[in-house]
Amino acid sequence: MAKILKIVGILLGVLVLAGAGGALWMWSARDARLAIVYEVEDADFPVPFPLTDDEVAALRAELEAGRAAAVAEGSVAEGSEEDVLADVDLSALALERAVERGKHLVESRYICVECHGQDFGGGTMIDDPGVGTILGPNLTTGAGSVTADFTPADWSRAVRHGVRSDGTPLVMPADDFVAMSDLELSDVIAYIRTAAPVDKTVPRIAFGPVGTMLVATNTLPLAAEMFPDHTRSHEPLPPPTGDTVAFGQHLAGVCTGCHNPNLTGGPRPGFPPDWAEPLNLTPHASGLEGWTFEDFQRVMRQGVRKNGEPLKLPMNKLLPYSLKMTDTELHALWTYFTSLEPRPYGE
Ligand code: HEC
Ligand code: HEC
Repeated sequence: MAKILKIVGILLGVLVLAGAGGALWMWSARDARLAIVYEVEDADFPVPFPLTDDEVAALRAELEAGRAAAVAEGSVAEGSEEDVLADVDLSALALERAVERGKHLVESRYICVECHGQDFGGGTMIDDPGVGTILGPNLTTGAGSVTADFTPADWSRAVRHGVRSDGTPLVMPADDFVAMSDLELSDVIAYIRTAAPVDKTVPRIAFGPVGTMLVATNTLPLAAEMFPDHTRSHEPLPPPTGDTVAFGQHLAGVCTGCHNPNLTGGPRPGFPPDWAEPLNLTPHASGLEGWTFEDFQRVMRQGVRKNGEPLKLPMNKLLPYSLKMTDTELHALWTYFTSLEPRPYGE
């Protein structure tokens, strides 16, 4: 009897040690992965972008037409030689337009507020006892801001590379933003900088046991690891706005984080159990084969799938954003998806 108890005792001891060893391995594997330092390009671009020559020319033509009309009406004397642009503050106008574009990008595409708060003062990405507390920090200029002293290079490193200023990886799904051009990021920064300062210090991320395991075992993808080359620079400008495959592909950059880089969908590691699996967006029988644009539009504008079911989590969370897409943007996505080679689900 005593012998059996002794054996059981030893076995238990071994199990406890193995458990502790496993946990220790898990913790150190997690920390090792989060301590890797990435060398990232130093992006350089203006905030805001100045007006282009074409924009200035269009503005001049508009103001000259206005002056000609006023002369014809007799409200302005003829023969004024003054440059119509003399009194126009072109930098203020450039900023105004950049903020307007940035607002549209955040509201229809880049969903920063979903994790950083509607006022950009901080928000929640995941708050789960198992996975952890993963909070989006304060992006305003108030006390507790992480971005108050950010240069464009710092913004680019975080947003388009998923890397902190010390070179280590962020737990932000920045893979959705890698296709962002300099102009778009500049516009987003210009817009975020108009946010009223919020005084709030957001605690740093803390992983629970499940989160630790997901990071330690490389199950949770980290955006920084997905880049083949962090020293490669980004496009200065997005493709021209229009109902084209190129523009649609650019827009679909924010769909690939969930629907897979090749858009065939499939289960996502790290998705909570109450989230659905992203579906196939290629024109395959398991995807968009036989769909019309109206079917696609119903998903994006009403949150209803072709089979009549309401969209599930997390796609249904995107409805407020896709509702803000312009008709051109929506159709360009459709044009792009239907141009793809049909591929089976989750390939
Ligand atoms: C899905 C949630 C999510 C979205 C969407 C998101 N972020 Fe984040 N962001 C986070 C989290 C979480 C962190 C903190 C990650 C960490 O500390 O590892 C973060 C960190 C940051 C940082 C801080 C980097 C640093 O060095 O501390 C910046 C800047 C940032 N995000 C900007 C943006 C911008 C701009 C957008 C929109 C284009 C955006 N984020 C969209 C979740 C998100
Ligand atoms: C946060 C993850 C996520 C992102 C980002 C995302 N989706 Fe989805 N999407 C899903 C999930 C999950 C489903 C399945 C929902 C369901 O089963 O009801 C889905 C379903 C769909 C469907 C319905 C397909 C069908 O067969 O009914 C379409 C269309 C779609 N997404 C388009 C898009 C487009 C376009 C984008 C980018 C602008 C996008 N999604 C971005 C997660 C995402």
